[in-house]
This record gives sequence, C-alpha cells and structure tokens, in this order.
Amino acid sequence: MKTLTYTVDADGIATIAIDVPGRPMNVITPELQNDLAAAVESLAGDAAVKGAIITSGKPGAFIAGADIKDMVNSFAAGISAKQGAELSQKLSRLLRRLETCGKPVACAINGVALGGGFEVALACHYRVLAQDASVGLPEVNIGLLPGAGGTQRLPRLIGIEKAGPILLGGQPLKAADALKLGVAHAVAPAAELHGLARKWLLETPKAVQPWDEKGYRIPGGAGPAASHAAISFTMGTAVTAKSTQRNLPAPLAILSCLYEGTLLPIDTALKVESKYFGQLLSGPVARNLMRTMFINKNAADKLARRPDGVPASKVKKLGILGAGMMGAGIAQVSAAAGIEVVLLDSTQEMAEKGKQLSVTLLQKALERGKTTQAKVDTQLERIWPTIDYADLAGCDLVIEAVFESRSVKAEVTQRADAVIPKTAIFASNTSTLPITSLAATFSRPADFIGLHFFSPVDKMPLVEVIMGRDTGPATLARAMDYVAQIRKTPIVVNDSPGFYTSRVFATYFQEGILMLEEGVAPALVENAARMAGMPIGPLAVSDEVTLELQLKVIEQNLADGQAPTAQLPRILQVLRTMVRDLKRSGRRGGGGGFYDYPAEGKILWPALSQHFPLAAQQPDVEEAKKRLLYIQALETARCVEAGVVMEPADADLGAILGIGFPAWTGGTLSFIDTLGLPPFVVECERLAVQYGPRFQPSDWLRAKARRGETFHPPLSAAA
Ligand code: NAI
Repeated sequence: MKTLTYTVDADGIATIAIDVPGRPMNVITPELQNDLAAAVESLAGDAAVKGAIITSGKPGAFIAGADIKDMVNSFAAGISAKQGAELSQKLSRLLRRLETCGKPVACAINGVALGGGFEVALACHYRVLAQDASVGLPEVNIGLLPGAGGTQRLPRLIGIEKAGPILLGGQPLKAADALKLGVAHAVAPAAELHGLARKWLLETPKAVQPWDEKGYRIPGGAGPAASHAAISFTMGTAVTAKSTQRNLPAPLAILSCLYEGTLLPIDTALKVESKYFGQLLSGPVARNLMRTMFINKNAADKLARRPDGVPASKVKKLGILGAGMMGAGIAQVSAAAGIEVVLLDSTQEMAEKGKQLSVTLLQKALERGKTTQAKVDTQLERIWPTIDYADLAGCDLVIEAVFESRSVKAEVTQRADAVIPKTAIFASNTSTLPITSLAATFSRPADFIGLHFFSPVDKMPLVEVIMGRDTGPATLARAMDYVAQIRKTPIVVNDSPGFYTSRVFATYFQEGILMLEEGVAPALVENAARMAGMPIGPLAVSDEVTLELQLKVIEQNLADGQAPTAQLPRILQVLRTMVRDLKRSGRRGGGGGFYDYPAEGKILWPALSQHFPLAAQQPDVEEAKKRLLYIQALETARCVEAGVVMEPADADLGAILGIGFPAWTGGTLSFIDTLGLPPFVVECERLAVQYGPRFQPSDWLRAKARRGETFHPPLSAAA
C-alpha cells in the first residue's frame, strides 16, 4: 500500500500510519481510500489482531481533508448531484465499515485533523489528541458540507446544539476545547499518543459506537419536540437565511442534514447527508468558492504571478511618506511583520499621530489576550516617526501615501529619491493617479511601482500591485515579496485610470446614485445590494468614500480633458446637489451624506426623497440586484479587454477581497462564466436599452460570446 503502512505488534495491535507520498499534508485521495479500505478488511479478517490505531506518518499533522483540486475538477467534468452523492457515499461507507468491523479502533491525532480527516477520527471508537492538535469541519467555508458522516456523527456525539455552531462556523477546535466538548477522549503530549491509544485498546476497548448501542438517544434530543428545536432549527434557519441572503446553499443544507438526519437511523442518515453533499458539489457556488478563495488565493499568496529569475528578497527597512490613515496602517502591518519602519510626515506631530494607530491596535490586541506586552513593545520600537528625510537612508522600499495631489507627491518623491540607496524600490499608494505619470518624477522609473492598499489596512487582505509603463520585472518581484512578507494577497494589474479595483468599484456606487436619481427608493437600492451579497450598499459606501471626494475626482478628470460619459451629468447633478446645495458631503464631513449618522449606527437621510422624488413605479428588487452586479462584471470585462487585468484569477480575487463583490459568485469573471457569456451579453444589451449605454457590451465581448469562450480556462486544464 502506497499511502499507509499497516503493522501489527506482538500484542496484536495494528498500527495504520497514513503517509500520502508527495504531499506535505495527508489529503484524502482515492488511493488513500482504497488503501484504508484494504487495511480495515485486514483488521476485520485477522483473528490475531485485537484492534487498531490510526495515526499519521507525517509529523505534526494528521489529515488536512479532501483534495480540493479533485473536487473542483469533478465539477469541471460535469459531475451530477447523483454522482456527487455517490462520491460522498464511497468514503461514508468505508468509515461505516470501519466503525462496525467488530474491532476497536483508536485514533491518535498528532496535528490538524480537518474535514475528511476529522471525519475519519469521528468514525473511530477512541480519540486522543496531541496538545497542539486541532480538529474541525471547515467545509462550509468552501460551499460544501462534511460528506463523510461529519453532520451525523458530531451531533450524535455531542448533541445538535453544540454541533450546529461547529458545522456552520467552520472554525477549528483546539485540543483542550475538543476535550471539554467531548469530541476527544484524551489530550496528551504528541510522544504519548500512541501509548495511550494502545493502553485503551489493551485495557478498556470497545468496538461499538454510542449510536449503535440499543436505546441510544442524541444528547439533548432531536426533531421538533426537542427543547432546543425552536433555537436550533426555527431560529437557526431564519438567521442563516438572513446572513447568507440564500446566496450560499451550504449552511442551509447543513441545517437540513442536522434536522432530517438526526431523526433517522445512522445508515439512512448518512445517505441523506450524501444527497445534500452531491447537490452542493454539483452546484456552481461551491466550485466558485473553492476555485477563487482556495485554489487561486493560495496560488496568489505563494506569488504565482511573480516573475521568474529574480532572487527572493526581504524588506528590512521601509520608508513611508505620509502618516495619515493609509500610511499609519501600512506602518502597523509592516512592523507586525518584523520590518523597521521610518514613518515620515510634514510635522512631527502628524508622524507621531500615525504611530498612535499602532499603539491603539496593539493595545486592543493586548486586552483581548492576542499578544504580549513584550511583543507590543518590540513592534512599537520598530516604528520611527520623523520629519527628517535623512532617516530614510538605507531603506529597501519606500511607499508614498501623502495627499492625493500630483505636486505634493512629486515633491516628497524627489526628496526621498535624493537620500535612499540606488538599490531601493519606490511605490505609490495612490488610488487614482496613473503610476506611469508619477514614475516620471522619480530618477529610476523602472524601480517605481504602484502598491494600492485598502482601508482599513490591518483588516483588508488585498494589495493591488500596479505596473507602470516602465516598471521592471525585478521591481515587480520585490514588491510582491514585500506583499507576501506582510501576509497580504497580491494581484497584479496594468496602469490605467482607477487601475482595476477602484474602476470597478466606482461603477457600483455610481449605479446606486443613478438609481436614486431615477427615483428608486433609497432603501430598495441599499437592500438590493445587501441581498445580492455586497457587504455595504452603494449609497452607504458613497458616504464612506465621501461625496465631496467623488465630486472632486470627477471635476478634476473633466478639467484634465477626460470625455464625459452619457451618465456623468446625472451623477454630477446628484453630487453637486448633495455637496454644494445641501452641504451633505459624506460621512467624514460631519453633516452626513445619503445617511444621517447619529451617535450609534446610521439611518438613510429621511429628506432624501424630497430632493430625489420617488418614481411612481418602483423596480423589482431582482432587477436592482442585477444592475448592481452586472455593471461591475461588465466593467471587469472591459478591464480584461483593455489589458488592465491580465489574469482572470486576479480579477476575481481583486473583486472579492478588495471591493466586497460577493464571494458566492467566485468573483466578477466567475460570475459571468457561471451565467454563461452569451446570456450575459444579451442581458447587458437589454439593460443598455432600458438604462443607458453604460451597459452596452463591446464588440470584443460580443465576439468572445459568439466564439463560445469563457474567461477562465476549462477547470480541468487549470487545476
Ligand atoms: P490622509 O489625508 O489621511 O493622509 C495623508 C498624510 O500625508 C497626512 O498625514 C499628511 O500630513 C501627509 N502629508 C501631506 N503632505 C505631506 C508632505 N509634503 N510631506 C509629508 N507628509 C505629507 O490620506 P490617506 O487617506 O491616508 O491617503 C493617502 C494616499 O493613499 C492618497 O494617495 C490616497 O489616494 C491613497 N489611498 C487612500 C485610500 C483610502 O481609503 N483613504 C485607499 C487607497 C489609497
């Protein structure tokens, strides 16, 4: 057997040590399933063997779960719900055979046991965990459910009330918590696991699971009569439906498994679980989530787009120009990653204020027990607030985050240029100014790049890396190394006004403003956005960006000679009315914007409809949702056409991680691919007739649709 070893000691105790070759972590491959099935039969059939210990041959890790690439590929191969259910039944039957084979089986969990790995453990009769091990069922995070008994054995072991949050939350349990919950029988140092499992097998073995004993009842009860039913099922379903807006099918399917399955004998219950698993695996949401949020995100984090042939680099000393909201945030995440930071502003007071953000965030982390005073002190020591450019000497990288003004940026760039080493690279965090034009103010444009962070920097996982016309591959590689160093996810795009994310995001909030101007009820606009899965409505986000800034950018662009679009006069009219006539410039202005901001929370400004009267006929909410999602997807397609975005994976990741495009779609391009490009184009044409030429698909997109192309390559080829 290639994926495990099966040995029997003198006392008749078999050890099944799983070690899938060529993998850093054990994953449940078809080969491992076959080998495990053979091992179980050896155990069952050999009278000389008293029981078995399942463990991992890989130090510090048990089994990480199923192979996600295999699952994505099965979707690509057109798997049906029935075939998906059969896939789940295969492992489910094997684990059922394991727990009913007549021999006691102990599991020595020497590290992470996730998904299918934890399900193997749950099918064993005894579980002992290493102190630093963790167990969990994270399937919900990738749009699936545990399809090898997880939704059935866990509630049978600890009750539905406790199992529900573990299954729906997808968060792993630490060993100590697993013990407290009754998921583990014992916790011990890693070196003692095997001995403890052996002791149990020799002294107090039991080859029957609690749920196979006569008279077994689920702890806390099951079904509508259980005392917790109103909370677990009635409220649970309502809360889940609301939080997912029914865009994500997995959490509701998990609740169905919990409700239906626990009323049935285990063998039938496992079939119910498999049925729901098959439905999820054959649906597009799981595929989209797995591909973008797992496969492509992992690839981006491992710098898949980094140019070859450039030696790996690390930033030791970072200069940040401008200690405002963004500069302060970049300083904090960089210091947390061990980088020495020089934080420069025009006054010492402003520079110190920038450092204060780190003090505040670290203080909060300390209060929550997430860090230690010693770590707080070292991190704070790494940030050097200053007004003196000479302090930038020796920096490997300088990031500029001063006001969004060409002249201010040019001045600070040149002053830094004069003192930093000729080997240093320089980045701008501008959100709107083309990188190529900013690079012209630096002595070495090949070493100049855009690093577009998102606010708040400590929370937002994405950095949009922007190539200027002259940016060299070595600069790109080093900038990406830095992004990985601060543990953020990079996407790489080409220079263009608004780059990629801001350009797409603008279409979102502008569509909301246009709806308001048409007379669509503001609450309908905001609710439609949230129902589509956007984290914040377009009017609320406009207030955050500030209406004043939007107005300034549009007027500046027009003054710079940018041709106005057909919808621009309408957007301008709304913004001018709000900012100039009504003095409502957005959240930061103090006077409110589309919303009022009382001490707690926010409410849509009640007088909005006086200034933007409601139309007699209100649109269907589905139509409003469609407008908000389609306009962003279409703008992404335009970015692909213009060469701003080069890789579909970058477009999807940027949309989800940068601007909150709903994860269930897999990102803007996965959204189009899932709908199908030809129907998407037809629908855009309809929207263009009804709402304006901004929805008009280009000839390029129409031709692509006619050729039957997709944005992502067929999945089997990609994986
Ligand atoms: P901010 O106004 O909070 O901070 C700008 C800082 O630059 C201030 O502390 C100011 O004192 C300092 N500064 C201005 N002139 C200076 C000079 N001559 N020398 C040294 N320091 C000087 O602005 P924020 O929001 O941090 O934005 C900074 C940059 O980041 C802008 O280019 C902006 O477009 C970009 N950006 C902003 C995002 C946001 O959400 N606010 C998101 C992504 C990029």
